[in-house]
Amino acid sequence: MWIEPEIEFVNERAVFQIPDVRDVYVDLYSKNFSTSPRDFSERNANPSVMVAVYRTINGTIVGFSRFFFHMNNTVQPEEYSLEYTIKGICFSGTVVQSSYRGRGIGTRLISRVISFATEFTGAKYAIVCIDASNTIPLHMFQKYGFHPCKTICNKVTKDPSNYYILSKLIAE
Ligand SMILES: CC(C)(COP(=O)(O)OP(=O)(O)OC[C@H]1O[C@@H](n2cnc3c(N)ncnc32)[C@H](O)[C@@H]1OP(=O)(O)O)[C@@H](O)C(=O)NCCC(=O)NCCS
Repeated sequence: MWIEPEIEFVNERAVFQIPDVRDVYVDLYSKNFSTSPRDFSERNANPSVMVAVYRTINGTIVGFSRFFFHMNNTVQPEEYSLEYTIKGICFSGTVVQSSYRGRGIGTRLISRVISFATEFTGAKYAIVCIDASNTIPLHMFQKYGFHPCKTICNKVTKDPSNYYILSKLIAE
């Protein structure tokens, strides 16, 4: 029998108030996003960022998906290019413990974030920015229905064209 694991949502400040979550969070983001200009510490915790926390049924924390609300017209899907007030979410880091990868956990996280966003915030679209060399998440998001809509300069490598913005309409 498949037992649905728990995915809970907390804002990033709250992550640092829950010791077991905080420790895995800092470890996973520091290891996997080392080229990010951001330091994943309590000092930089952003209360506007929401974090989906994935726990197995025995309580082990195995993955996270960070996201925030987004209203930047320049990167919205074509269909909404004239609407400035449309609500969207931006994924800003989905990560799974390496020993748990390839079991559908990353896909479950993005799916759950999208259902949370449409149900509780009325978000109409989702976007994610991914480096062109990061082929596994590119594959995962595209398989889930995200489409590349723009390339932007990577702030870290300064490469003007190797950072994709992908988007997906998530509600009518
Ligand atoms: C991206 C990431 C979150 C995916 O997590 P996951 O739990 O393995 O994802 P899923 O199991 O749902 O797999 C999604 C797809 O990626 C594929 N995949 C997963 N691991 C893979 C690997 N090591 N090699 C090749 N493909 C792989 C899966 O096969 C699946 O594709 P499929 O359904 O066509 O077979 C995980 O690889 C990770 O944490 N990467 C490091 C952090 C990162 O780069 N995050 C993305 C920035 S937004």
